[in-house]
Amino acid sequence: MSSISIIGAGTMGSAITGLALAAGSQVQVLTREATELDPRVAAGVVGDGLTGDVVVLALPYGAVAEVVDLYADRLDGKVLVDITNPLDFATFDSLVVPAGSSAAAQLQERVPGARVLKAFNTNFAATLASGQVGSLPTTVLVAGDDADAKAALAGVVSGVRVVDAGSLKRAHELEALGFLQLTLAAGEKTSWTTGFALAE
Ligand SMILES: NC(=O)c1ccc[n+]([C@@H]2O[C@H](COP(=O)([O-])OP(=O)(O)OC[C@H]3O[C@@H](n4cnc5c(N)ncnc54)[C@H](OP(=O)(O)O)[C@@H]3O)[C@@H](O)[C@H]2O)c1
Repeated sequence: MSSISIIGAGTMGSAITGLALAAGSQVQVLTREATELDPRVAAGVVGDGLTGDVVVLALPYGAVAEVVDLYADRLDGKVLVDITNPLDFATFDSLVVPAGSSAAAQLQERVPGARVLKAFNTNFAATLASGQVGSLPTTVLVAGDDADAKAALAGVVSGVRVVDAGSLKRAHELEALGFLQLTLAAGEKTSWTTGFALAE
């Protein structure tokens, strides 16, 4: 059975948990403090062993380094999914990662033994839960250098279309897209329940 560990049970952690449960995956959810979660989920606290082959960091950008450092080499071989939009929330006018780089590239440098993917950052949580962006299916764009890792992520969720967006270098573009989508929603040009869709 496919297995996934999700660190963080906020808006995105809950939405991704729903996709994984819908796929019949074995789901572990780790939170800072012991929390009552869906009984189908194996609940734990951050620092517990990771039972999933796929590990999703459903955390604010600013918390990622601290949490991955806690796991250090326990992430070797894992499919490690970065979903962050590393926005400068003080100005709402730029990303905080160096130009040309990405939060996902930074993560791969920090945890070289893990197989890092960028995914879900271009999807508002509501569109993961509904499976729809307007009248179109929700598409999860995934960037990463390891084809098997992408297949593992696609296999552990259901209810959304998962599309390979290219190498980990494309995380830069996905983060730009996520940033733009956030500014459009904040400016009421699109809503927090819709956003960008990919027409076939
Ligand atoms: N919301 C969206 O629609 C959306 C869309 C695309 C991407 N994202 C990205 O997804 C990520 C999560 O967003 P969200 O909306 O799910 O945020 P959220 O609802 O605030 O949830 C964040 C989670 O991270 C946990 N957390 C925060 N700091 C932590 C730390 N130092 N150690 C361990 N856990 C910590 C929080 O735990 P506590 O409850 O204990 O504080 C909470 O469970 C962000 O990087 C965001 O940019 C969000």
